[in-house]
Amino acid sequence: MSVLSENFSVSLITLPVGEETKNFKNLEHIICETLKEKPERKSCLVALGGGVVGDITGFAASMVLRGMSFIQVPTTLLAAVDSSVGGKTAINSKYGKNLIGSFYQPKMVITDLSMFSTLPQREILAGYAEILKYGLICDYSFFEYLEKQQVISDFDYLVKKSCEIKADIVSKDEKEEKDLRALLNLGHTFGHALEATCNYDGSLLHGEAVAVGMVLAFKFSEKLGICKTGRAERVEKLLRRHGMRTKISEVVQKTSAQALIDLMYGDKKVDSGKLVFILAEDIGKAFVKKDVEEKNLKEFLEHEISN
Ligand code: GLY
Repeated sequence: MSVLSENFSVSLITLPVGEETKNFKNLEHIICETLKEKPERKSCLVALGGGVVGDITGFAASMVLRGMSFIQVPTTLLAAVDSSVGGKTAINSKYGKNLIGSFYQPKMVITDLSMFSTLPQREILAGYAEILKYGLICDYSFFEYLEKQQVISDFDYLVKKSCEIKADIVSKDEKEEKDLRALLNLGHTFGHALEATCNYDGSLLHGEAVAVGMVLAFKFSEKLGICKTGRAERVEKLLRRHGMRTKISEVVQKTSAQALIDLMYGDKKVDSGKLVFILAEDIGKAFVKKDVEEKNLKEFLEHEISN
């Protein structure tokens, strides 16, 4: 459909909701629909939607004409505080989630907080997990601020602060080459394995998986003697206050430590065949850990699965 607005010729491409939309077929569809409009380099793809729309649209934009402009207009809290910022684009394949993509920065990100007023509470909480992530990685005072909130509020501040922290990290390590941007994956090695166990069937949103993953990352850090005790409990308490699930047994019914570890080997952070984790010395002090013993991990996961 083509409409004319303020001298811009606008064409709409709509995509179905859900993670399975991020596939080759829809990527081809976006690219072909865009080429049909005879775009010029200054033409622009606008990704109006959540993380799925942003990721696949950004990837298409990075390829059409070897790179055309694109703008992110996130409509979910999670997209506003994480996926729309930083230029990671991707689709999924049978080999795993987000394994095919590019680093390609949007020309701008336009966030309208009023978009969130119609979001289900579950989506708000999924975004909240990514907001909390920034405090846990590198900003203890932001964590304390979140800890003081009995009810999640001040979305303008939460979004601004999250984007500032993310932009700062991305500007120093855009392509994840310096063990800095990787910190943004706190909770993701565990979380991605849990998401994959659920087959992306909607029973576990990405942010929900990250919430459980972050608690596991702190518990694992404590178990390894790296992190001061009591920190995992504080993180878990905050997530539970808002009604979020924090335990493996609450999000997946049937799994085993070995099955989760096998899934973790599909992670993009795997280095020389070894698992890489984002662990923490304390709240606000996350770091990249490359030499995790599989035996310790297996023992830890077996304990967590049975709890
Ligand atoms: N969501 C993690 C990153 O953008 O690096």
